[in-house]
Amino acid sequence: MRIPAFVSGRDSGVRTATGHALPEVEIPEVTLEEQRKYGYQLAKTGIEGLDEIIGGLLRGRTYLVTGETGTGKTLFSLSFLINGAEIGEPGIYVLVDEEYDDFLNGAYDFGWDLEKYISTGRLQILTLMPDFVEKMRNKPAETVVMSIVDNIARYARQIDAKRLVIDPVAPLVVNEGDVAWTREYIKSLIINLEKRIGTTNIIVSEIPTGSTSLSRFGVEEFLAAGVFVLGIERMGSEFVRTLFLRKMRWRPVPPGLYEFEIVRGKGIVVKGKLSQRRF
Ligand SMILES: Nc1ncnc2c1ncn2[C@@H]1O[C@H](COP(=O)(O)OP(=O)(O)OP(=O)(O)O)[C@@H](O)[C@H]1O
Ligand SMILES: [Mg+2]
Repeated sequence: MRIPAFVSGRDSGVRTATGHALPEVEIPEVTLEEQRKYGYQLAKTGIEGLDEIIGGLLRGRTYLVTGETGTGKTLFSLSFLINGAEIGEPGIYVLVDEEYDDFLNGAYDFGWDLEKYISTGRLQILTLMPDFVEKMRNKPAETVVMSIVDNIARYARQIDAKRLVIDPVAPLVVNEGDVAWTREYIKSLIINLEKRIGTTNIIVSEIPTGSTSLSRFGVEEFLAAGVFVLGIERMGSEFVRTLFLRKMRWRPVPPGLYEFEIVRGKGIVVKGKLSQRRF
């Protein structure tokens, strides 16, 4: 029996106790044919100014959104899901770091009424079972991954999800510190998200403040099909938000540093290249 990792919505304990957890079912792998069908189709991020540069994300693949704290990773990921919901591509947001109500309140103040999307089946927000990390500690990487992926897959089937965000991935790395385990785990997680769920995925990772690395564990960027590095640059007395397109596998996108803004109700808005700024 797999240990359930997530529940939909707020109060995990109560929901499972009263029998609202999903039934156990076998999740078939996405067939090769289905994968081929998605082959080189692109999923538009819907992020203003970005699709013009990258075309879109490869459907069915996994992208890394990374950056130091407060650089806009959550708003970037949520923009991707909301834009998807608006064009009939439901999404799943795996909320790992924040309380469900705080998250919904924050999004509402930002101009996004998530309840509206949830009630119409265009968005599912999954929260981590409180005892999941504890139960999974010291388990083989494959066991933890399968618990997580099977669980997400069942929710994804419910709303026919096309997009998925895990924000952030670090708390799901239940044996942090074990480097070999972590590498195997992240690799297996990405492969299985792609093979067993078939959504276009964003995984959020943090860069420790002041570090020159691209991600928390140093492996995420190799395994992802593309890497968006968000940052904040000081320009004289002002700060600008930056988006570094570090890697876009199979896309004719050279590395580039762009400026972006965070706009209430819209999310991320990508402006021109940083070098084109006039002072
Ligand atoms: N209404 C708004 N208008 C403009 N900027 C905003 C608004 N709301 C939030 N922000 C900016 O967005 C930032 C937070 O963005 P976000 O939560 O996406 O960052 P993050 O990289 O996910 O951070 P964390 O590391 O805490 O997860 C805030 O620090 C603030 O500067
Ligand atoms: Mg965040």
